[in-house]
Amino acid sequence: MVREETINHEFISFISKRVQSIKPSQTLVIDAKAKALKQQGVDVINFGVGEPDFDTPGNIKKAAINAINDGFTKYCPVAGTPEIKNAIINKLKRDNNLSYTLEEIIVSSGAKHSLYNLFQSIINDDDEVIVLAPYWVSYTDMIILAGGKPIIIQAYDENFKITPKIVERVLTSKTKAIIINSPSNPAGVTYSSEELKAIMQICVKNKILVISDDIYEKLVYGNFKFTSVAAVSPEIKENVVVINGVSKAYAMTGWRIGYAAGPKNIISAMSKIQSQSTSNASSISIKAAVEALNGTQECVEFMRKEFEKRRDYIVERLNAIEGISCRKPDGAFYVFPNIKTLLGKTFNGKTISTDIDLADYLLDVAKIAVVPGSAFGVEGYVRFSYATSIENIKTGIDRMEIALK
Ligand SMILES: Cc1ncc(COP(=O)(O)O)c(C=O)c1O
Repeated sequence: MVREETINHEFISFISKRVQSIKPSQTLVIDAKAKALKQQGVDVINFGVGEPDFDTPGNIKKAAINAINDGFTKYCPVAGTPEIKNAIINKLKRDNNLSYTLEEIIVSSGAKHSLYNLFQSIINDDDEVIVLAPYWVSYTDMIILAGGKPIIIQAYDENFKITPKIVERVLTSKTKAIIINSPSNPAGVTYSSEELKAIMQICVKNKILVISDDIYEKLVYGNFKFTSVAAVSPEIKENVVVINGVSKAYAMTGWRIGYAAGPKNIISAMSKIQSQSTSNASSISIKAAVEALNGTQECVEFMRKEFEKRRDYIVERLNAIEGISCRKPDGAFYVFPNIKTLLGKTFNGKTISTDIDLADYLLDVAKIAVVPGSAFGVEGYVRFSYATSIENIKTGIDRMEIALK
């Protein structure tokens, strides 16, 4: 029998230290808050969410319906069917000039899941992974969950780019990998093929694995041409794992299909983890993703053009607000304006001391949801997703202008 005095209820926790050391995804927290307010009848404009507002194209939905009707509803191979793997192999050849075999591809439940499996596969305790701030919120916590250490580095300037010099500065004997995300979330940073080549030279020389998160590949604007890190020179493919998926390019966030392409031993390790955790990604979604990758690509170009118009509009409107300066990003569907001039000012009796204060104030007063830069590791900025209609952008920025007068 346990004696009463040995039980201290305050300190009993069944939660592991590993889980206690991470935070929930801040962007999902803000998205949930905005959606809850909306449900209560508050007219919130949600600039917090990172998903296309377009519906999934009809031909893709039809492929899923056919899968259900044809009884394609059972377990399938853990790392994906040969059909989806071949669709990915063809896509990587067609769009990125990269050649992979079936054993070098794994399909997971979203690119996030592929990244999770990858970190679990490569990280030993205290291994370091280089992450450039501002970073996508999940990288750092996924690295911590795998027992590693995110080495967060701040860029030299507002271009927010990793340079070979920065990489050299933070390299240690424990450096295992580096993440390149182009176009990036949250700042829409893109890298030219020359910039990527220069970074790769350092990584190859120091035997660092490069994780190339290409999820926003299709959303690039103006004259910018996307290059995947793995494609910058033939000898570096062994040093790169490409991460991609159908969420952003085909408006398929809820379908949860992502994939990784890389060295056979890493993909095989990821499959082992997936076989002991989630097994295959949804068979129905896999059929839909085959159609997305093999079918007409007109929808991708249609959405890209719409996003470009919205980017131009939101950048112009934000720059017209006193105290805000906004770079025009070449890719993704986010803008990341600098709001440092607003800090210390008081609006409607509320003093704005941090980017978090500003995000709270804008939600309370203007009823617009944005994500503070601190959630991405950089203070003094906020992130707007422009994956919402021009009308919503107009109304939201009009409200913001009034709230900041
Ligand atoms: C940079 C980045 N990588 C990966 C993902 C994950 O995408 P999914 O899991 O929907 O494929 C996201 C989603 O927001 C992202 O912004």
